Amino acid sequence: HKPKVYVTRRIPESALRLLTSRYLVTQWDSDEPVPGAELMKNVPGIDALFCLLTDQITFEVLKAAGSSLKVLATMSVGYDHIDLEACKTLGIPIGYTPDVLTDATAELTVTLLLATSRRIVEGVTAAREGTWSTWKPMWMCGRTLLNSTVGIVGLGRIGFGVAKRLLPFGPTAILYSGHTPKDSAAEVGAIFVTFDELLQQSDFVIATCPMNSETVGLFNKAAFMKMKKTAIFINTSRGGVVNQDDLYEALKSGEIAGAGLDVTVPEPLPTDNKLFTLSNCVIVPHIGSATIDTRTNMAEITARNIIAVLEGETMPCPLKF
Ligand code: GLV
Ligand code: GLV
Repeated sequence: HKPKVYVTRRIPESALRLLTSRYLVTQWDSDEPVPGAELMKNVPGIDALFCLLTDQITFEVLKAAGSSLKVLATMSVGYDHIDLEACKTLGIPIGYTPDVLTDATAELTVTLLLATSRRIVEGVTAAREGTWSTWKPMWMCGRTLLNSTVGIVGLGRIGFGVAKRLLPFGPTAILYSGHTPKDSAAEVGAIFVTFDELLQQSDFVIATCPMNSETVGLFNKAAFMKMKKTAIFINTSRGGVVNQDDLYEALKSGEIAGAGLDVTVPEPLPTDNKLFTLSNCVIVPHIGSATIDTRTNMAEITARNIIAVLEGETMPCPLKF
């Protein structure tokens, strides 16, 4: 029989074609996430599941799929939406999409950093709304990367890509923290420090770590208190690494100078969220990997991860867990 694949969203055509040309594909044909109940209804008897980071892949979902399920492939580098223990228990391999989104996500991180430090959103708003009265020596002044200390929490592929891109802006030092020192750090002159040292010394604190039991809520009141009052915090990891109430208080009280967020809890962040009332908080809608090329590549790799397993070959991008 032809293997059955369930795809939880509308995806780039070329990736869908890779699957439809080989398998029986059922798809949640929408740009909105598949409802949990609909997912549960569609997974029984499938051979492969193509999912996104907006799908909660719980033990129940995997159980509902049953013993026919041979591979779970997520169109994301993050995998905090997947119950890894359940996959391990049930012996289901996972495919994901590292590498292809590193450049786009590092680029967006730098974009968000500059937009926040140079107050781009405030400036655009002022220009449009007519509060731009004249050139003023002390108006709309931001902060520069030149001679700054940059701190990167999680010098993985993306963190390294950010460091590489920030070097030409002339920081004095690039610090990083994480589990263990990385060999690649020398290439960008990044110095391994403790999390506390990084918070205390950095002018820019950038979160590019994965979210897991060690990083959830890592950026809390205690962390913001340790940062400089002039510090700018950037998060392109997961919203869950931040305690958002604590971030709000830190931004409101001047405990830190600004924040740029690509990720929040929840997503979308309701428009009446208090973070939106702050002019020193720049929020964009989880667009780190959002370039046409990158999203096409991510979808195709996800399809190829599925094809590899169903054809008895090695996945191009297996998650080691
Ligand atoms: C985006 O956040 C991803 O995990 O791919
Ligand atoms: C995420 O993919 C990272 O490597 O930081």
